[in-house]
Amino acid sequence: MLYLDHAATTPLRPEAREAMAPFFDDAFGNPSGVHGVARRARNAVEDARERAAALLEADHPLEIVFTGGGTEADNLALAGPALAGTGRTAVVVTAVEHDAILATAAFLARLGHSVDVIGVDAHGRVDPEAVAAAVRAETAVVSVMAANNETGIRQPVRDVVAAVRAVSSEALVHTDAVQAFPAEEVSVPALGADLITLASHKVGGPKGVGLLYVRTGTDLEPVIHGGGQELGRRSGTHNVAGIVGMVAALEAAAADRQRFRRDVAEARRRFETHLRAALDAAVTGAPADRLPQHSHLHLPGVDAESLLIRLDRAGVAASAGSACHSGATHVSHVPAAMGIDPQRAAQSVRFSFGWTSVPGDGDTASRIVAAQVEEMR
Ligand SMILES: Cc1ncc(COP(=O)(O)O)c(C=O)c1O
Repeated sequence: MLYLDHAATTPLRPEAREAMAPFFDDAFGNPSGVHGVARRARNAVEDARERAAALLEADHPLEIVFTGGGTEADNLALAGPALAGTGRTAVVVTAVEHDAILATAAFLARLGHSVDVIGVDAHGRVDPEAVAAAVRAETAVVSVMAANNETGIRQPVRDVVAAVRAVSSEALVHTDAVQAFPAEEVSVPALGADLITLASHKVGGPKGVGLLYVRTGTDLEPVIHGGGQELGRRSGTHNVAGIVGMVAALEAAAADRQRFRRDVAEARRRFETHLRAALDAAVTGAPADRLPQHSHLHLPGVDAESLLIRLDRAGVAASAGSACHSGATHVSHVPAAMGIDPQRAAQSVRFSFGWTSVPGDGDTASRIVAAQVEEMR
């Protein structure tokens, strides 16, 4: 199976598997306990926190909050500041955010909060000035993703931060860097955001664990209430193995970035060059600045769902739009926000390379895709 769905999830990196192993065995303690077994687990979580903070160049380890995944980190990043009782309750999001942000914004709207949704241009890019123009005295947080999970299109997060800071000293900026991490430098100084979401399983770590970087001094109401773990910001017994595995995967991914970028970019170049010539395929959002691993292609005249079934049989795993949803067919809000009509969107497929990809995968995959599409046409 040629796995071209790394944007949905990634195979586990060996570093993560190895780091987790003891925590499925004798290091099974609950970090909240007082005895030696607990202490070993607690030390592992705190060591992971320090390493995650170092990786993100955060000022302090306690700026890292471990969560049950990217979705939960996004919920906390948006609802946390808006519900914190600061008097600032409004949120600003872009139209191409992951549903973890958009559905949280809709939830806040149902509670009576003001929500502004900023559109993108035909290339999927948001205008930082348009974001800043929506910021008002009551804005708690602005959320602009580092790169889109469907198209890979990057957003100018640093420029958004600068534009927002120019109009408000209070509004926080959150960025979801879940997809960007394997290819891009993701750090507090590089992005400048107050809140940063990462998800383990997109970088070669286990599923069901993530983190939120929270700048010191940020007012945050938890979204999960209970025993007060994570300084009360996220209750629930720590997923010790998951946390340790995630941080091992993040470190491995960061150390592997240069090779990753080179290999996925070359695989994608071969893939897209062939398919553009053979099938008249068009890159969604071109010539927008994209992550090197994503290839969201319009294949004229081809029903994406039927093609995906054929590709699965032919040994290629890909997806239509976002696979982060339960349920099969779902018309994505991302192409719609770019002004792409539903018919064209239904003829588009997302291929995503990743840490296990080699340049030759681009040749193999493009041959298989071309053959299947030609049969369908
Ligand atoms: C950009 C982005 N944000 C958030 C998420 C959600 O992360 P998780 O699957 O860990 O809940 C995903 C993928 O699922 C994603 O691609």
